Amino acid sequence: SSPNIARRGPFVVEEKPGVRWWCACGLSASQPYCDGSHKGTGMAPLKVEIAQDGRIAWCGCKRSRTGAFCDGSTGPPDRAPRPGGLCRNRAPIGRRTGRFTIFAFAGQWAG
Ligand code: FES
Repeated sequence: SSPNIARRGPFVVEEKPGVRWWCACGLSASQPYCDGSHKGTGMAPLKVEIAQDGRIAWCGCKRSRTGAFCDGSTGPPDRAPRPGGLCRNRAPIGRRTGRFTIFAFAGQWAG
């Protein structure tokens, strides 16, 4: 099954260091974070540790190829949003390595 589209664009949040559970199923009422609503879907949240203060663009369409982070579309992070893509973000924000650590990759992003 495909994840629900929570938003056709990112959730931009000023984050502090610590662990976040990014909702991968798109059903959480506490976007972009997991609230347990994925139960029974076969999907699971992605655990992300934030290393330092920073603005994070969490994927809202749940189809980013960079996992929890908005890549501007269903395409790779170095490309502009493709026509018909699920995300309307006009300024793709790829994964900025060194700021976060992904511990688990249990969700599904087929779509
Ligand atoms: Fe969506 Fe948990 S509520 S992954």
